[in-house]
Amino acid sequence: MAQRPTPIDRCAPLPGTESEDPMLAVVNAASQLPAIGLAAVEARALFYLQAGFPLHLRGPAGSGKTTLALRLADQLKRPVMLLVGDASFDTRHLVGSEGGTRTRRVVDRYISTVMKVESETESVWLDRTLTVACMEGCTLVYDEFNRAPATANNVLLTVLEERILVLPKAGRGESYVKVSPDFRAIFTSNPVDHVGTHPAQDALVDRMVTIDLEGFDRTAEIAILRSRAGLSAGDAARIVDVVRDFRASREYAQRPTLRAALMIAELAARGGMRIACDDPRFVALCLDILGAKLKPAADGLPHPQQRALLQKLIDHFCPAAGGAKPARGSLP
Ligand SMILES: Nc1ncnc2c1ncn2[C@@H]1O[C@H](COP(=O)(O)OP(=O)(O)OP(=O)(O)O)[C@@H](O)[C@H]1O
Ligand SMILES: [Mg+2]
Repeated sequence: MAQRPTPIDRCAPLPGTESEDPMLAVVNAASQLPAIGLAAVEARALFYLQAGFPLHLRGPAGSGKTTLALRLADQLKRPVMLLVGDASFDTRHLVGSEGGTRTRRVVDRYISTVMKVESETESVWLDRTLTVACMEGCTLVYDEFNRAPATANNVLLTVLEERILVLPKAGRGESYVKVSPDFRAIFTSNPVDHVGTHPAQDALVDRMVTIDLEGFDRTAEIAILRSRAGLSAGDAARIVDVVRDFRASREYAQRPTLRAALMIAELAARGGMRIACDDPRFVALCLDILGAKLKPAADGLPHPQQRALLQKLIDHFCPAAGGAKPARGSLP
Protein backbone atom coordinates (compact mmCIF):
# COMPACT_ATOMS: atom_id res chain seq x y z
CA MET A 1 0.00 0.00 0.00
CA ALA A 2 1.61 3.30 -1.06
CA GLN A 3 0.56 6.90 -0.56
CA ARG A 4 2.13 9.77 -2.43
CA PRO A 5 2.41 13.56 -2.70
CA THR A 6 0.80 15.14 -5.74
CA PRO A 7 2.95 16.68 -8.45
CA ILE A 8 2.28 20.33 -9.24
CA ASP A 9 -0.03 19.65 -12.13
CA ARG A 10 0.40 22.06 -14.97
CA CYS A 11 -3.27 22.06 -15.84
CA ALA A 12 -6.21 24.21 -14.72
CA PRO A 13 -7.46 24.31 -11.10
CA LEU A 14 -9.17 21.16 -9.90
CA PRO A 15 -12.94 21.15 -10.50
CA GLY A 16 -14.71 22.72 -7.55
CA THR A 17 -11.67 24.72 -6.42
CA GLU A 18 -11.76 28.46 -6.84
CA SER A 19 -8.09 29.25 -6.92
CA GLU A 20 -5.16 27.48 -8.48
CA ASP A 21 -2.71 25.35 -6.48
CA PRO A 22 -0.27 27.69 -4.66
CA MET A 23 2.72 25.76 -5.99
CA LEU A 24 1.34 25.93 -9.51
CA ALA A 25 1.04 29.68 -8.95
CA VAL A 26 4.75 29.80 -8.09
CA VAL A 27 5.69 28.03 -11.34
CA ASN A 28 3.30 30.21 -13.34
CA ALA A 29 4.60 33.41 -11.77
CA ALA A 30 8.19 32.55 -12.72
CA SER A 31 7.20 31.49 -16.23
CA GLN A 32 5.38 34.76 -16.82
CA LEU A 33 8.43 36.90 -16.07
CA PRO A 34 10.23 38.13 -19.17
CA ALA A 35 13.47 36.26 -19.97
CA ILE A 36 15.52 39.36 -19.16
CA GLY A 37 19.26 38.93 -19.45
CA LEU A 38 19.22 35.15 -19.38
CA ALA A 39 17.56 34.37 -22.74
CA ALA A 40 20.68 32.74 -24.20
CA VAL A 41 21.34 30.72 -21.04
CA GLU A 42 17.69 29.68 -20.95
CA ALA A 43 17.79 28.38 -24.54
CA ARG A 44 20.98 26.40 -23.86
CA ALA A 45 19.63 24.98 -20.62
CA LEU A 46 16.40 23.89 -22.29
CA PHE A 47 18.39 22.16 -25.02
CA TYR A 48 20.37 20.13 -22.43
CA LEU A 49 17.22 19.17 -20.55
CA GLN A 50 15.32 18.16 -23.67
CA ALA A 51 18.26 15.96 -24.61
CA GLY A 52 17.75 14.16 -21.29
CA PHE A 53 20.63 15.59 -19.23
CA PRO A 54 20.16 16.77 -15.64
CA LEU A 55 20.83 20.48 -15.27
CA HIS A 56 22.61 22.27 -12.43
CA LEU A 57 22.26 26.05 -12.07
CA ARG A 58 24.98 27.37 -9.78
CA GLY A 59 25.36 30.96 -8.65
CA PRO A 60 25.31 33.43 -5.77
CA ALA A 61 22.14 34.59 -4.03
CA GLY A 62 19.85 36.61 -6.25
CA SER A 63 21.44 35.47 -9.52
CA GLY A 64 18.09 34.11 -10.73
CA LYS A 65 18.65 30.34 -10.25
CA THR A 66 15.28 29.41 -8.78
CA THR A 67 13.34 31.62 -11.17
CA LEU A 68 15.16 30.15 -14.17
CA ALA A 69 14.73 26.58 -12.88
CA LEU A 70 10.95 27.08 -12.55
CA ARG A 71 10.71 28.73 -15.97
CA LEU A 72 12.57 25.80 -17.54
CA ALA A 73 10.39 23.28 -15.70
CA ASP A 74 7.32 25.02 -17.07
CA GLN A 75 8.67 24.80 -20.61
CA LEU A 76 9.18 21.03 -20.33
CA LYS A 77 5.38 20.70 -20.13
CA ARG A 78 5.39 17.93 -17.52
CA PRO A 79 4.06 17.99 -13.95
CA VAL A 80 6.59 19.69 -11.67
CA MET A 81 7.78 18.53 -8.26
CA LEU A 82 9.65 21.04 -6.13
CA LEU A 83 12.05 19.98 -3.41
CA VAL A 84 14.11 22.41 -1.31
CA GLY A 85 17.27 20.95 0.24
CA ASP A 86 17.49 20.92 4.01
CA ALA A 87 20.13 19.81 6.51
CA SER A 88 17.64 17.44 8.15
CA PHE A 89 17.18 15.36 4.96
CA ASP A 90 18.02 11.70 4.72
CA THR A 91 17.20 9.21 1.94
CA ARG A 92 13.69 8.71 3.32
CA HIS A 93 12.87 12.39 2.74
CA LEU A 94 13.53 11.92 -0.96
CA VAL A 95 12.35 8.38 -1.60
CA GLY A 96 9.75 7.53 1.04
CA SER A 97 9.42 5.36 4.07
CA GLU A 98 7.12 3.15 6.06
CA GLY A 99 4.57 5.58 7.37
CA GLY A 100 2.68 3.40 9.83
CA THR A 101 0.54 0.30 9.64
CA ARG A 102 -2.94 -0.58 8.48
CA THR A 103 -4.90 -3.34 10.25
CA ARG A 104 -7.70 -5.31 8.67
CA ARG A 105 -10.08 -7.41 10.79
CA VAL A 106 -12.17 -10.11 9.22
CA VAL A 107 -15.08 -11.26 11.37
CA ASP A 108 -16.45 -14.58 10.21
CA ARG A 109 -19.94 -15.45 11.52
CA TYR A 110 -20.57 -18.20 9.03
CA ILE A 111 -21.81 -20.47 11.78
CA SER A 112 -23.95 -18.42 14.15
CA THR A 113 -22.58 -20.08 17.26
CA VAL A 114 -18.95 -19.55 16.28
CA MET A 115 -17.26 -16.20 15.64
CA LYS A 116 -13.85 -16.23 13.96
CA VAL A 117 -11.83 -13.03 13.97
CA GLU A 118 -8.68 -12.69 11.85
CA SER A 119 -6.43 -9.64 12.05
CA GLU A 120 -3.92 -8.75 9.39
CA THR A 121 -1.51 -5.85 9.73
CA GLU A 122 0.36 -4.44 6.74
CA SER A 123 2.81 -1.60 6.49
CA VAL A 124 1.84 1.57 4.69
CA TRP A 125 4.58 2.87 2.44
CA LEU A 126 4.61 6.62 1.79
CA ASP A 127 6.16 7.65 -1.52
CA ARG A 128 8.05 10.91 -1.33
CA THR A 129 8.91 13.47 -4.00
CA LEU A 130 11.73 11.68 -5.84
CA THR A 131 9.84 8.39 -6.15
CA VAL A 132 6.74 10.09 -7.53
CA ALA A 133 8.79 12.22 -9.92
CA CYS A 134 10.73 9.19 -11.24
CA MET A 135 7.65 7.01 -11.67
CA GLU A 136 5.33 9.63 -13.13
CA GLY A 137 7.92 11.26 -15.39
CA CYS A 138 7.73 14.65 -13.68
CA THR A 139 10.26 17.45 -13.75
CA LEU A 140 12.02 17.55 -10.40
CA VAL A 141 13.24 20.99 -9.33
CA TYR A 142 15.66 20.35 -6.45
CA ASP A 143 16.39 23.86 -5.18
CA GLU A 144 19.49 24.39 -3.01
CA PHE A 145 20.22 20.67 -3.23
CA ASN A 146 23.59 21.04 -1.46
CA ARG A 147 21.86 22.12 1.75
CA ALA A 148 20.93 18.44 2.14
CA PRO A 149 23.70 16.12 3.35
CA ALA A 150 25.55 14.33 0.55
CA THR A 151 24.47 10.97 2.01
CA ALA A 152 20.80 11.90 1.52
CA ASN A 153 21.44 12.76 -2.12
CA ASN A 154 23.38 9.52 -2.88
CA VAL A 155 20.18 7.89 -4.08
CA LEU A 156 20.26 10.28 -7.05
CA LEU A 157 23.45 8.73 -8.44
CA THR A 158 21.73 5.73 -10.06
CA VAL A 159 18.65 7.80 -10.91
CA LEU A 160 20.74 10.15 -13.04
CA GLU A 161 23.11 7.57 -14.54
CA GLU A 162 21.38 4.18 -14.77
CA ARG A 163 17.88 5.69 -14.58
CA ILE A 164 16.97 3.32 -11.76
CA LEU A 165 15.71 4.37 -8.35
CA VAL A 166 16.99 1.94 -5.75
CA LEU A 167 14.54 1.72 -2.85
CA PRO A 168 15.47 1.04 0.75
CA LYS A 169 15.08 -2.52 2.06
CA ALA A 170 11.44 -3.52 2.51
CA GLY A 171 10.38 -0.49 0.47
CA ARG A 172 7.18 -0.31 -1.49
CA GLY A 173 7.41 -4.05 -2.25
CA GLU A 174 10.00 -3.56 -4.97
CA SER A 175 13.75 -3.16 -4.60
CA TYR A 176 13.94 -0.60 -7.40
CA VAL A 177 11.77 1.28 -9.84
CA LYS A 178 12.60 2.19 -13.40
CA VAL A 179 12.80 5.92 -14.00
CA SER A 180 10.30 7.19 -16.59
CA PRO A 181 11.90 8.45 -19.82
CA ASP A 182 10.07 11.75 -19.22
CA PHE A 183 11.76 12.34 -15.85
CA ARG A 184 13.96 15.44 -15.86
CA ALA A 185 15.91 17.03 -13.01
CA ILE A 186 16.97 20.62 -12.44
CA PHE A 187 19.25 21.37 -9.49
CA THR A 188 20.29 24.71 -8.04
CA SER A 189 23.10 25.49 -5.63
CA ASN A 190 24.86 28.47 -4.16
CA PRO A 191 28.67 28.06 -4.03
CA VAL A 192 29.23 31.36 -2.19
CA ASP A 193 26.86 30.99 0.74
CA HIS A 194 28.56 28.26 2.72
CA VAL A 195 26.32 28.72 5.74
CA GLY A 196 24.38 25.50 5.99
CA THR A 197 25.58 24.09 2.68
CA HIS A 198 27.40 20.81 2.16
CA PRO A 199 30.03 20.52 -0.55
CA ALA A 200 28.19 18.97 -3.49
CA GLN A 201 29.45 15.46 -4.10
CA ASP A 202 31.74 15.29 -7.10
CA ALA A 203 30.07 12.12 -8.37
CA LEU A 204 26.66 13.77 -8.39
CA VAL A 205 27.78 17.01 -10.01
CA ASP A 206 29.73 14.94 -12.56
CA ARG A 207 26.39 13.57 -13.82
CA MET A 208 24.88 17.03 -14.44
CA VAL A 209 25.47 19.81 -16.91
CA THR A 210 26.44 22.79 -14.74
CA ILE A 211 25.78 26.36 -15.81
CA ASP A 212 27.31 29.10 -13.68
CA LEU A 213 25.08 32.14 -13.31
CA GLU A 214 27.06 35.21 -12.37
CA GLY A 215 24.10 37.46 -11.76
CA PHE A 216 22.40 39.95 -14.04
CA ASP A 217 24.35 42.70 -15.78
CA ARG A 218 23.44 46.37 -15.26
CA THR A 219 21.15 46.56 -18.31
CA ALA A 220 19.24 43.45 -17.22
CA GLU A 221 18.89 44.69 -13.62
CA ILE A 222 17.48 48.01 -14.88
CA ALA A 223 15.03 46.15 -17.15
CA ILE A 224 13.91 43.91 -14.24
CA LEU A 225 13.33 46.92 -11.95
CA ARG A 226 11.37 48.66 -14.70
CA SER A 227 9.17 45.63 -15.36
CA ARG A 228 8.60 44.82 -11.67
CA ALA A 229 8.19 48.31 -10.17
CA GLY A 230 7.08 50.28 -13.21
CA LEU A 231 9.87 52.84 -12.78
CA SER A 232 11.29 55.03 -15.53
CA ALA A 233 14.60 53.94 -17.06
CA GLY A 234 16.40 56.79 -15.27
CA ASP A 235 14.94 56.00 -11.82
CA ALA A 236 15.62 52.27 -12.21
CA ALA A 237 19.21 53.04 -13.27
CA ARG A 238 19.81 55.24 -10.20
CA ILE A 239 18.74 52.50 -7.78
CA VAL A 240 20.66 49.82 -9.68
CA ASP A 241 23.82 51.95 -9.66
CA VAL A 242 23.66 52.55 -5.89
CA VAL A 243 23.26 48.82 -5.21
CA ARG A 244 25.86 47.71 -7.77
CA ASP A 245 28.44 50.20 -6.50
CA PHE A 246 27.83 49.08 -2.92
CA ARG A 247 28.26 45.47 -4.09
CA ALA A 248 31.50 46.33 -5.88
CA SER A 249 32.84 48.13 -2.78
CA ARG A 250 32.84 44.86 -0.80
CA GLU A 251 32.13 46.96 2.32
CA TYR A 252 29.31 44.64 3.28
CA ALA A 253 28.73 41.75 5.63
CA GLN A 254 25.90 40.41 3.48
CA ARG A 255 26.20 40.80 -0.31
CA PRO A 256 23.54 43.21 -1.60
CA THR A 257 21.72 41.31 -4.35
CA LEU A 258 19.19 42.21 -7.01
CA ARG A 259 16.56 41.57 -4.32
CA ALA A 260 17.74 44.67 -2.40
CA ALA A 261 17.38 46.81 -5.54
CA LEU A 262 13.94 45.29 -6.19
CA MET A 263 12.81 46.04 -2.62
CA ILE A 264 13.94 49.66 -2.87
CA ALA A 265 12.30 50.06 -6.29
CA GLU A 266 8.98 48.46 -5.30
CA LEU A 267 8.71 50.36 -1.99
CA ALA A 268 9.76 53.68 -3.53
CA ALA A 269 7.17 53.25 -6.29
CA ARG A 270 4.48 52.23 -3.81
CA GLY A 271 5.27 55.17 -1.51
CA GLY A 272 5.40 57.67 -4.38
CA MET A 273 8.98 58.62 -3.45
CA ARG A 274 11.35 60.57 -5.65
CA ILE A 275 14.51 58.60 -6.48
CA ALA A 276 16.66 61.47 -5.27
CA CYS A 277 18.89 62.25 -2.31
CA ASP A 278 16.71 65.21 -1.29
CA ASP A 279 13.71 62.95 -0.62
CA PRO A 280 14.24 61.94 3.03
CA ARG A 281 11.87 58.98 2.75
CA PHE A 282 13.86 57.57 -0.17
CA VAL A 283 17.17 58.04 1.63
CA ALA A 284 15.80 56.39 4.78
CA LEU A 285 14.49 53.49 2.68
CA CYS A 286 17.91 52.94 1.08
CA LEU A 287 19.66 53.12 4.45
CA ASP A 288 17.19 50.65 5.98
CA ILE A 289 17.64 48.10 3.23
CA LEU A 290 21.33 48.54 2.48
CA GLY A 291 22.52 49.73 5.90
CA ALA A 292 21.57 46.39 7.45
CA LYS A 293 24.05 44.70 5.12
CA LEU A 294 27.04 46.79 6.23
CA LYS A 295 29.89 45.22 8.18
CA PRO A 296 29.01 45.68 11.86
CA ALA A 297 31.18 47.64 14.29
CA ALA A 298 32.23 46.17 17.66
CA ASP A 299 28.79 46.94 19.16
CA GLY A 300 27.11 44.92 16.40
CA LEU A 301 25.54 48.00 14.78
CA PRO A 302 26.58 49.31 11.34
CA HIS A 303 29.76 51.35 11.50
CA PRO A 304 28.91 55.11 11.33
CA GLN A 305 31.71 55.72 8.79
CA GLN A 306 30.42 53.01 6.51
CA ARG A 307 26.89 54.35 6.85
CA ALA A 308 28.28 57.72 5.76
CA LEU A 309 29.87 56.03 2.71
CA LEU A 310 26.50 54.57 1.83
CA GLN A 311 24.97 58.01 2.14
CA LYS A 312 27.63 59.33 -0.27
CA LEU A 313 26.69 56.67 -2.81
CA ILE A 314 23.05 57.77 -2.64
CA ASP A 315 24.07 61.44 -3.03
CA HIS A 316 26.28 60.57 -6.00
CA PHE A 317 23.93 58.33 -7.96
CA CYS A 318 20.63 59.97 -7.01
CA PRO A 319 21.31 63.71 -7.33
CA ALA A 320 18.62 66.13 -6.23
CA ALA A 321 16.63 67.72 -9.03
CA GLY A 322 17.86 71.26 -9.68
CA GLY A 323 20.83 70.82 -7.34
CA ALA A 324 18.81 70.94 -4.08
CA LYS A 325 20.66 69.88 -0.93
CA PRO A 326 20.75 66.20 0.03
CA ALA A 327 18.28 65.18 2.72
CA ARG A 328 21.00 64.08 5.17
CA GLY A 329 20.10 66.51 7.95
CA SER A 330 16.49 65.44 8.06
CA LEU A 331 17.12 61.73 8.27
CA PRO A 332 15.54 59.87 11.17
N1 LIG B 1 13.55 37.33 -15.53
C1 LIG B 1 13.22 37.95 -14.41
N2 LIG B 1 12.35 38.99 -14.44
C2 LIG B 1 12.01 39.64 -13.31
N3 LIG B 1 12.46 39.30 -12.08
C3 LIG B 1 13.34 38.28 -12.00
C4 LIG B 1 13.76 37.55 -13.13
N4 LIG B 1 14.64 36.58 -12.74
C5 LIG B 1 14.74 36.72 -11.40
N5 LIG B 1 13.97 37.73 -10.98
C6 LIG B 1 13.82 38.17 -9.57
O1 LIG B 1 15.12 38.32 -9.00
C7 LIG B 1 15.12 37.88 -7.64
C8 LIG B 1 16.19 36.80 -7.45
O2 LIG B 1 15.89 35.67 -8.27
P1 LIG B 1 15.94 34.17 -7.68
O3 LIG B 1 15.15 34.05 -6.43
O4 LIG B 1 15.59 33.27 -8.80
O5 LIG B 1 17.50 34.07 -7.34
P2 LIG B 1 18.31 32.85 -6.69
O6 LIG B 1 19.59 32.76 -7.45
O7 LIG B 1 17.46 31.63 -6.64
O8 LIG B 1 18.61 33.40 -5.24
P3 LIG B 1 18.86 32.56 -3.86
O9 LIG B 1 20.20 31.87 -4.02
O10 LIG B 1 18.89 33.62 -2.81
O11 LIG B 1 17.72 31.60 -3.70
C9 LIG B 1 13.70 37.37 -7.34
O12 LIG B 1 12.98 38.39 -6.71
C10 LIG B 1 13.14 37.10 -8.74
O13 LIG B 1 11.73 37.24 -8.77
MG1 LIG C 1 16.74 30.50 -5.01
